[in-house]
Amino acid sequence: MRKTHIASLLTVCLIAVSSFAKAQVVTIPVETQHNALVLQTDAQKNLKMVYFGAKLGDAKEYGQIQKMYKPNDDSGILDDAYTPSGSTNLAEPAITVTHADGNKSLELLYVSHTVTKVDDNVSLLTVTLKDPAYPFEVKLYYKTFYKEDVTEQWSVITHNEKGSVTLNKFASANLNFKADGFWLKQYHGNWATEMKPEESKLTHGIKTIDSKLGTRANLYEPSTFMISMDKPATEDEGKVLLGSLEWSGNFRVDFELSPDPSNYLRLIAGINNAAAEYHLKPNEDFATPALVYTYSDHGTGDASRKMHSWARKYKIVDGEGSRLTLLNNWESTYFDFNEPKLAQLFKDTKKLGVDMFLLDDGWFGNNHPRNGDNAGLGDWQENKLKLPNGISSLMKEAKANDVKFGIWIEPEMVNPASDLYKAHPDWVIKEANRPEKYFRNQLVLDLSNPKVQDFVFGVVDNLFTKNPDLAYIKWDCNAVIYNAHSSYLKKDQSHLYTDYVRGLYKVLDRVRAKYPKVPLMLCSGGGGRVDYGALKYFTEYWPSDNTDPLERVFIQWEYSYFFPAIASSNHVTDWGKQPIKFKIDVAMMGKMGFDIVVGKLNEQELAYCHEALKNYDALKDVIWHGDQYRLQSPWVNDVASLMYVNDAKSKAVVFNYLVNNRYGSGTKTPIRFKGLDPQKKYSVKEINLYPGTTSVLEGNLVYKGDFLMNVGINPEVSSSHTSIVIQVDAVQ
Ligand code: GLA
Repeated sequence: MRKTHIASLLTVCLIAVSSFAKAQVVTIPVETQHNALVLQTDAQKNLKMVYFGAKLGDAKEYGQIQKMYKPNDDSGILDDAYTPSGSTNLAEPAITVTHADGNKSLELLYVSHTVTKVDDNVSLLTVTLKDPAYPFEVKLYYKTFYKEDVTEQWSVITHNEKGSVTLNKFASANLNFKADGFWLKQYHGNWATEMKPEESKLTHGIKTIDSKLGTRANLYEPSTFMISMDKPATEDEGKVLLGSLEWSGNFRVDFELSPDPSNYLRLIAGINNAAAEYHLKPNEDFATPALVYTYSDHGTGDASRKMHSWARKYKIVDGEGSRLTLLNNWESTYFDFNEPKLAQLFKDTKKLGVDMFLLDDGWFGNNHPRNGDNAGLGDWQENKLKLPNGISSLMKEAKANDVKFGIWIEPEMVNPASDLYKAHPDWVIKEANRPEKYFRNQLVLDLSNPKVQDFVFGVVDNLFTKNPDLAYIKWDCNAVIYNAHSSYLKKDQSHLYTDYVRGLYKVLDRVRAKYPKVPLMLCSGGGGRVDYGALKYFTEYWPSDNTDPLERVFIQWEYSYFFPAIASSNHVTDWGKQPIKFKIDVAMMGKMGFDIVVGKLNEQELAYCHEALKNYDALKDVIWHGDQYRLQSPWVNDVASLMYVNDAKSKAVVFNYLVNNRYGSGTKTPIRFKGLDPQKKYSVKEINLYPGTTSVLEGNLVYKGDFLMNVGINPEVSSSHTSIVIQVDAVQ
């Protein structure tokens, strides 16, 4: 495997050519451990994407693929690797421009390519395309992660014309797939109803998923998607691509099933160009965000595990590291707290046995105290009535109780009722000539403005400078952008959506340069900003304000296709009617936290918390860093089952939750485990037993891996045992 990989890279490097003159066909295989994406030039030097799928044994045969297809397509436009517009290309473009002289035509021909080996596992292919009529260039980048079968793909656009060129459309990636039919799984939702899946067969024409919300861009629809090829993929079977745009703003992903009988699927993904054309100066680079994707011909489970490994190793901050358990005060106090109440909460944090206390919204604002969501955002000074001795004294108090301290901020936002709004009205995104429209009583600060970037960075930096022991920040973002107008951008108003996100990333780059590892939670009124563009800076995300554990089984299940458990912040709260055991068991399949009144727990409940935290401590390495197997879906079964297995296949945990209340609901048949060693013997025992109850599994059970994977274990989930957690350990 490894040898083939290196050999094909060498071939690729050697065949790089660099002239418009020779019309020699160039074939560029982009290979990972199991897959290949193949680019090839035609006689006119247009660059085509001619193959995507399982890697072939003989790399030379990639050159033979294209001639097997006889599309009824005189224009030859359907499989461009980056479709330009306004010339001979008549398909939905990846790029549309208005040249400095007003001309709208673009042709992009292959010039050269190079492969750089970043390390043993990571390679970067760069393909240069140029317009023969204008000094206009696009570089296509394909960064491959060999072992994980993951590719990040983006483009960089530049020119040397006599004046600015307007980019009317500027996609990150343009992919072409060939199969006997395509099924798209996409997501929609709203506050507290994130990640509702829908799967449908793509019909001819264009299907688009997009956002135009500016910030909190995923509120109604994220850019994550799944495409099954030939037939809908299942957990262990079928060809499936998982994709997501690494961008925390407006996005657009087009899926075009070409009307031609060849049935190619063209995918074009990038920043949403709606109201966002970009004026690019000569010699300036416009780098688009990456589309990340992985492909498996062994179903969604394998694809997810690849995405998870990649995310942990290469994207999420400290993805292979550790996380803090915590007690949050949002639901127990909302805005109503003071020093004595917090002193009690520090004690409760210790009593509960978690690592940290997280102080949520409401700690700031004096002229406009943050006693509700209608005032104070922007004024990041401690409220003197609630916290007369400031954060530093809270930190001391937390330390005295032997717990860490973290804090909530929403630094991109401003309430009109704030000193900041009065001092800097020009920092606020709004149309001077139109009435202000608020989302949660607030407006968005103009992060395209470097002064605003300094301010937002300062909010974080001041907190850490004044409180070096600050252990954690929850970074929220609750509003969308209405009346998208920037005082700073003057004539370039259409840059705002792009420059906002770039400004946000500049701030986060500065935060991470100075505070590389401190845990940051990515929150956006729930899961309004869960994307890999942002997760590059964060250790974890908040999937939803909906913490009803029954709902969370479904929400966390869907996120789990794309994002690893270590990044999923799951809190035990008062939401939902289920007993504390069910709540904790659901929170355990990720990064566990609490947002409850500890004093209201009875003795048994508290004892259960302690028992579960002890088990979590023993199993968190498996949950956070192991392989995840979705055993049984909550959508079509009475019981949802998920499993995590460590690399050595010596330790695993299986979570089973009742998700149906109808008469007799429960597990009637065994649940087949996955990912174990068929030859190893394993002990199987129920853990997280509620005080006074006994295990549903009799005796000390030991089975071979092949039994557990072919026959399985019946966890006996029923209305009297709604949640069963099983620990699996290899034994001699
Ligand atoms: C958002 C978050 C919540 C909480 C509140 C505070 O809604 O999603 O978790 O922090 O803001 O106002």
